[in-house]
Amino acid sequence: MDAVNDAANHSAEPAPGPRPEGGHRLYPRVTSFRMRRGAISPARQDSWDEMWPRIGKDVADEKLDADAWFGRSAPVVVEIGCGTGTATAAMAQAEPEFNLIGIEVYKPGLAQLVQRIERDKIENIRLLRGDAVDVLENMIAPESLTGVRVFFPDPWPKARHHKRRLLQPETFALIASRLIPGGVLHVATDHADYAEWIGLYGNAETQLIGMNEPTGGDPEAYRNKAPIGFERPITKFENKGLRAGSAITEFIWGKIES
Ligand SMILES: C[S@@+](CC[C@H](N)C(=O)[O-])C[C@H]1O[C@@H](n2cnc3c(N)ncnc32)[C@H](O)[C@@H]1O
Repeated sequence: MDAVNDAANHSAEPAPGPRPEGGHRLYPRVTSFRMRRGAISPARQDSWDEMWPRIGKDVADEKLDADAWFGRSAPVVVEIGCGTGTATAAMAQAEPEFNLIGIEVYKPGLAQLVQRIERDKIENIRLLRGDAVDVLENMIAPESLTGVRVFFPDPWPKARHHKRRLLQPETFALIASRLIPGGVLHVATDHADYAEWIGLYGNAETQLIGMNEPTGGDPEAYRNKAPIGFERPITKFENKGLRAGSAITEFIWGKIES
């Protein structure tokens, strides 16, 4: 059997073996990601050393005080799996009114974004390094997020790997619990089978209501009222055209307002 745990099995033990750099908490269990190695250039490492203590945190048992971390009070929007952060940086520049938090496990990706943040003097991004499920469970307070974005989560196409998909029923429930009433979950995928899965489990989550066609809602009824926009920049993954020709499905849900 693969030495993996799945995102739905939140209580699984870490895989045995040596702990990677940074301690076990960064990779407490393999969920929707595999550990990837990658070199970081000396310039990026310098940028990381300079910036990370202020704008980054490793996942920990510590409730996040976003206002204190950003040094201002503003609606918080989380992006899960921000990769190298091309879209994250673009959204931050286009949305100065939001405090954006990127969550990612892959340090070289984060390092690329950190360098961009430093170069472009972007003030409204903070980064959390670790498993997004762990971060949401342990660092993010219920009903504290105005938006959650998940752009091109790994599709894990083989049936025996579906348990590794990030967007399990439990993850939808967790994400929904962290949204404020009226907050928005925006997911995009270019993988037809994962799109079906996302639609099935997302639409079954009772804390969410559909706000666009793939989620069974009427976008015109919500577009101008929703607290975050329904548009998004092209991401690095999309730009690579890895699966050129694949249709992209966008899912937009709102957290029910009781
Ligand atoms: C296919 S890439 C897409 C990256 C980016 N959103 C884009 O569109 O360019 C998926 C990313 O999600 C990250 N990821 C997967 N599972 C994660 C998890 N549980 N927590 C945080 N990041 C995760 C991976 O490391 C990877 O960078």
